[in-house]
Amino acid sequence: MCRLAVAMIRVLITPTLFSLRDIDTVKQEFSAELWYEIFYKDPKLSGIKVREKVNWGDQWDPRIQLRNTVRIDKMESKQNLIPVVGDDVPIVHEFRKVTATFKVDMDLTDFPFDKQKLTVQLMSGWSTKRVELRKNYGSNDVITEEDFSDKEQWEVCGYLDCKNDEKINKQFKESYGYPLYNITAHVQRRTLFYMFNIVLILFLITALTFTTFSVRTDYRLSNTFTLLLTTVAIKLVVSQYLPTVSYMTLLDKYVVVCILFQSGVALQNAVASALPEDSVKLCDQISAAALVVFVIVAHLVFGIIIWKTVSNNRKEVQTVEENAKVRQITSLLFLHLTGSIYISSHKIFCNANSSN
Ligand SMILES: *[C@@H]1O[C@H](CO)[C@@H](O)[C@H](O)[C@H]1NC(C)=O
Repeated sequence: MCRLAVAMIRVLITPTLFSLRDIDTVKQEFSAELWYEIFYKDPKLSGIKVREKVNWGDQWDPRIQLRNTVRIDKMESKQNLIPVVGDDVPIVHEFRKVTATFKVDMDLTDFPFDKQKLTVQLMSGWSTKRVELRKNYGSNDVITEEDFSDKEQWEVCGYLDCKNDEKINKQFKESYGYPLYNITAHVQRRTLFYMFNIVLILFLITALTFTTFSVRTDYRLSNTFTLLLTTVAIKLVVSQYLPTVSYMTLLDKYVVVCILFQSGVALQNAVASALPEDSVKLCDQISAAALVVFVIVAHLVFGIIIWKTVSNNRKEVQTVEENAKVRQITSLLFLHLTGSIYISSHKIFCNANSSN
């Protein structure tokens, strides 16, 4: 009886994201330079100590690919062998550099207070029975401010959130999955630009609509319509920052509330011009009071929604940071306990360079 044992191979991953840039809300894309290192043990390489003795074209390949790329600009990879003390089978270390544009699904419901997850997905062509993709506990998945070039528009969480997952193939009866590995950077949009350039202007235009009460009733409507037209123009400007999604973003809702308010003023203007001269004053007072209440309530509601969104986003980022810190501590313990598996990504990076 001689059967080839099909063993599960565990592939450890250490990702580093360099120059995360060009986050495009309209196209729902971002670009990044990703360097990732993969580590695994291939029993067939037992006894081999130097990389030059291996014909890399013939060896077992973990078939790891990037899943959500739009365009790959550059891709390099290099293999290396790391001998393990007390074990014949060396660790294969593959170092890959990719510059690519990735597709992401952005949820813009909270725009411009939204937080996005920029995920790079790695997937293996082997089923989950053969390969599992896991985090390399010797690594420390951080992203530094220097590596992030959209600082003016986004704030980045200092840790990468790495999770393994599975893509189930439903085509076959006995459904099996492919291992996935998500490398996620959490970014929070900076809102100041939108606050000054859109929300403030919109607020002023809306507030100016109140001034129509100061002119004679038969001139009011044309003034209100001019201001309404301006608001509609701003609506067009807003849509330029957004993709055509089938839901309303928070900013869209604000614009709609402003348009509703101005339509209410237009209605009031029409009614007032039809009323007899002596009852206009009373009508103005009542409707102005109602409109002021509407504006205040609407802004309070928006304030509460924004406050909740911002605090939720902050909590999410905190959870990512705390998890990363806990992982760092456990990985240190893990390394102390299992000293032989110590894999320092830095050391290996140097090895990979010097073996040129
Ligand atoms: C991995 O990323 C994909 C796409 O962004 C997402 O649908 C999936 O839920 C993620 N998996 C985990 C475990 O976070």
